[in-house]
Amino acid sequence: MNAAARRLSSLLLAFIFSTSLFAQSATSPRENPDWWKNAVIYEIYPRSFQDSNGDGIGDLNGITSRLDYLQALGIDAIWLTPIYPSPQVDFGYDISDYTAIDPQYGTMADFDRLVTEARKRNIGIIMDLVLNHTSDQHPWFLESHSSRNNPKRDWYMWHDPKMVDGKPEPPNNWLSVFGHSAWQWDAKTGQYYYHRFYIQQPDLNWSNPAVRKAMYDVERFWIQHGVAGFRLDAITSLFEDPTFTDENYVLGPDGKPLINVYGDKQVDTLKTDNLPEVHDVLRELRQVADQTHGRKVILIGETYLRSIDDLRKMYGPHNDELDLPMDMQVGFINRFDVNTFRERINQAETEINGDEPLFVFDNHDNFRWDRYDHDAHHEDAGRVIAAVLSASRDTAMMYYGDEIGMVTTPPTRKDDVKDPIGITGWPKEKGRDGERTPMQWSDGPDAGFSPSGVKTWLPIPPSYEQNNVAAEEHEPDSMLRWYEQLIALRKQDPALHAGAETMLNTIDENVLSWLREADNGEVVVVACNFTDQPQTVSFDLSAQGVRGTGVKTLLKTPGGTDPASLRSVQLGPFGVYIGRVE
Ligand code: GLC
Repeated sequence: MNAAARRLSSLLLAFIFSTSLFAQSATSPRENPDWWKNAVIYEIYPRSFQDSNGDGIGDLNGITSRLDYLQALGIDAIWLTPIYPSPQVDFGYDISDYTAIDPQYGTMADFDRLVTEARKRNIGIIMDLVLNHTSDQHPWFLESHSSRNNPKRDWYMWHDPKMVDGKPEPPNNWLSVFGHSAWQWDAKTGQYYYHRFYIQQPDLNWSNPAVRKAMYDVERFWIQHGVAGFRLDAITSLFEDPTFTDENYVLGPDGKPLINVYGDKQVDTLKTDNLPEVHDVLRELRQVADQTHGRKVILIGETYLRSIDDLRKMYGPHNDELDLPMDMQVGFINRFDVNTFRERINQAETEINGDEPLFVFDNHDNFRWDRYDHDAHHEDAGRVIAAVLSASRDTAMMYYGDEIGMVTTPPTRKDDVKDPIGITGWPKEKGRDGERTPMQWSDGPDAGFSPSGVKTWLPIPPSYEQNNVAAEEHEPDSMLRWYEQLIALRKQDPALHAGAETMLNTIDENVLSWLREADNGEVVVVACNFTDQPQTVSFDLSAQGVRGTGVKTLLKTPGGTDPASLRSVQLGPFGVYIGRVE
């Protein structure tokens, strides 16, 4: 396994086992309740998108200044990772005030302006809601921590120690996703508190109705500020098994416990992940989202799950939970392999009751798509991924910089690491800095990210000289153009927009092909060559009840040919072909 693969699987393990219209309507998210279906959601890591004030850190006004760019790209919504006041131990995922803006990102007036300006461009703003834990500097925790009798004591997960030889030890063997015991000793009050993530991120007690009420008030607050939805962070982690008994160890092929990148014996997460009570909270969050105002507010979930069955349940028995649980089964398999993609995409099409899948291939926690084992061809593989994301029946979630082919650039020295897990886990785990580097706008100073010549919070990757917005806007065959074309086609073409999806040529090991069929009968075929060799594919669509054998090209990768018939579609290495059947 290469470093990238190891990195990704360690994060996945961490979550799974470890410690672990047609559209193109001109309606805005406010007017069309189905705006999120088949939408393109663009994740922005605000620290790294655009610095407007020259402090080397991205901010809200920076994002607002780039809305025209995002509108031209064709996106429907922006997911903003946390911008609330925070000690920034976990770069915003440790929140100390849920209803304000961290001054390093701007003010509430800046936020309101971003929402208003985005709405003018039919772009919704989706907030990141971190419900599982707060910062240890949040007033709730400061109170809870102050004494056993404090009224907020029960807002967090406090537990007596296990006494071993007269000394306090953690109540059980549960591990933090970020390494070592999930329990932190507090000598002053003689108890441990539970933290699934960093020590500075104590878990809230979701069995306490006062906690729920406080968080639902936070949800209402942001809805009143005009947000289009929420991405619910670590949502499967809200509850812990009340028996607090040990987890089983995860055993390797030799029958011994696996050792994680932090040197801990890996334990399962059956007692801390995806407990049934999570669904009660999802229903309550949905009720608040549905009640507060007369428009559709969507709920997206960060859902690293074990199976498609678990994913299906996240929509709720009556579509009363999440609108869009992230499908990590497709995008985080980390194998650039036709069979696996076909199987997983087909599951999303056939095994989630026809609900809307949310596909995602990279984000601020995982290596970018260059992790796929195609060092020499990663950009070509990136075009294939973009086509799978854009031409499938899904809501598509992309990560800033995907569209210009930004690559993962991890730190080379431990001293340079900013993400704490990269320090604890060095050198096996270098942290998540590599996928959080500043957006590459131009080949000028600081890649156009900062006004000029300041020390940016993470270094600008060397790739900025070739991969940057200014250069790619002028290149007809650039990655940026590829994304723009894919997104535009997805919006304009009824079959690609919302048509049903059927896998084709299901024994082909080299080319992933599928058909999209619109209600009006329009049929489109998509073929993606997953190899570095030319391939020829032939389609017989009679089994699908499609008579036509001619095909009209809608989009193809640079250098591709226009086939005369569906009998012989030629694809160059990593070539993609999209055509309408005639
Ligand atoms: C989620 C976030 C990640 C964060 C963690 C703890 O997984 O995506 O960045 O570190 O939750 O809040």
